[in-house]
Amino acid sequence: MAQVSGIADDQSSRTKTLRIARFNPEKDTEKQFMEFSVPVEKWTTVLETILDVKKHYDHSVAVRYSCRQATCGSCGMIINGKPRLACFTKVSELDSDVVTVEPMNNFPIIRDLAVKFERLFDTHHKIKPYLVRDDTELESDEKEFSQSPEELEQYIQFANCIKCGLCNSACPTMATDSSFVGPQALAQAYRYVADSRDKGKDSRLKIIDDSHGIWRCHFAGSCSQVCPKGVDPAMGIQLLRGYMLGFRS
Ligand code: SF4
Ligand code: FES
Repeated sequence: MAQVSGIADDQSSRTKTLRIARFNPEKDTEKQFMEFSVPVEKWTTVLETILDVKKHYDHSVAVRYSCRQATCGSCGMIINGKPRLACFTKVSELDSDVVTVEPMNNFPIIRDLAVKFERLFDTHHKIKPYLVRDDTELESDEKEFSQSPEELEQYIQFANCIKCGLCNSACPTMATDSSFVGPQALAQAYRYVADSRDKGKDSRLKIIDDSHGIWRCHFAGSCSQVCPKGVDPAMGIQLLRGYMLGFRS
């Protein structure tokens, strides 16, 4: 086990074991775990421990991050068996002396903890993640396309999606159907279908009315359990089905 240098002997810190999955698809057949003894404080995040290892011991560990504040959606990974944002997960909340970090499930691995997002972005783009309207210009005497608080309430939680992919990583159907559109894209389909300003409902419902679309969801609900932004993709999928079956309009 390697010891990260730096503040390891700080009396106010405790030491945890960080296990990092290492994998290079160009030469490895399976993941190997490297262990590091890392100093942590009450507020230390998992991302900070990984960056400690990169800075003090092995700079070749591949990890994606940017904002460090649960906004950009870059740092999703499996932490002690559950999809989480590394920058939004404090080591202390894991209540374990060992922290194991692995790449997200259901995403191809680029290297170590970094995964490819092409499938997520492709499916997100497929459902037309924007307001569809014929009248793209406001007449001079018209107001903006206003909404009531009640209309906003219909979709606002779904607008919080940061495209981190944790829901797709947790989804058992994503693991078995490589063409499934996935909970992230379906939740965003609902977000726009439920927006009173949007006129693209029929075309969007047609896109997801497919054997690899909305009907492929088995309602496991794991997507909603892992979302760090309070989005409930499983509920969005059920509400979308209401539109498709004529219970909503
Ligand atoms: S719905 Fe939640 S878990 Fe899924 S991509 Fe959006 S923010 Fe991430
Ligand atoms: S670094 Fe941006 S969400 Fe974690």
